[in-house]
Amino acid sequence: MGQLEEKIIAVTGAGGGMGKVVVEHLLEEGAVVIGLDINTDSLSSIDHHNLRVKQINLLEESSIKEVFEEIDDEFNRLDGLVNAAGIAQAAKPITEVEPSEWHKIMDINATAVFLTNREAVRHMKKTENGSIINIGSVSVTRPRPGLQSYVASKGAVEAFSKALALETAPFNIRVNVLHPGPADTQMLSQFSSQKEGEVELNKDIFSESVPLGRLIKPNDISATVSHLLTDGAQIITGAVIHVDGGRSV
Ligand SMILES: NC(=O)c1ccc[n+]([C@@H]2O[C@H](COP(=O)([O-])OP(=O)(O)OC[C@H]3O[C@@H](n4cnc5c(N)ncnc54)[C@H](O)[C@@H]3O)[C@@H](O)[C@H]2O)c1
Repeated sequence: MGQLEEKIIAVTGAGGGMGKVVVEHLLEEGAVVIGLDINTDSLSSIDHHNLRVKQINLLEESSIKEVFEEIDDEFNRLDGLVNAAGIAQAAKPITEVEPSEWHKIMDINATAVFLTNREAVRHMKKTENGSIINIGSVSVTRPRPGLQSYVASKGAVEAFSKALALETAPFNIRVNVLHPGPADTQMLSQFSSQKEGEVELNKDIFSESVPLGRLIKPNDISATVSHLLTDGAQIITGAVIHVDGGRSV
């Protein structure tokens, strides 16, 4: 029997490099998983009776509210939320960053975390039970030059999650932050400067920055996410957990 049997868990960014592996892991542990993404194509290869796939646009409050209402209508409860959606920033000096770029990064990486957490908490308060994992980034503690807007958005996720953890603790709703180190997904290349001749993946540079000597794999992330959703983690809240091979030290 899996450790998440019969738990209802929503995952944003479910079609992404980390999100899809998280979805697969949670299904293996027996959860009913609602996979949410603006692009759900990659989820079509998962054939599992406990998977529901819903399209969501995290830039639109109405889309977020609609999806969480559908979840409520179908299940009448929500045990877990994993926020794995996000967008990267191509490294560039602040003098070249347009406000529109800043706003888009903040809207998807930070405001959508507020909105999805708000909807999840509405449901979780009814059962006085819930576990939320918001994915941040090691860049909050170890910023790289040129990623100022992305780092700010992830810093907001950390501060918000800690504040919400205190606020929702009386309702037995746990909120934790998971900061991945540089991870082997398509997003990694998007952090490189997009200038001609500089669009190199730099995988070696990223791997060398990790004391354990390799990039973080989606499996590393899903293992910790899964644990935080289980009853084995019932006393863990407000924690900032680095899954980064020592990069943050
Ligand atoms: N890959 C890394 O090196 C790395 C490092 C640290 C933190 N992170 C963070 O980990 C999380 C997962 O990253 P990943 O590597 O899986 O990236 P990814 O690009 O593979 O996946 C991100 C997913 O978010 C979805 N998304 C983007 N905008 C959306 C919107 N408006 N509405 C709904 N969905 C939307 C995308 O469709 C995509 O499936 C992100 O929050 C990212 O910032 C990644």
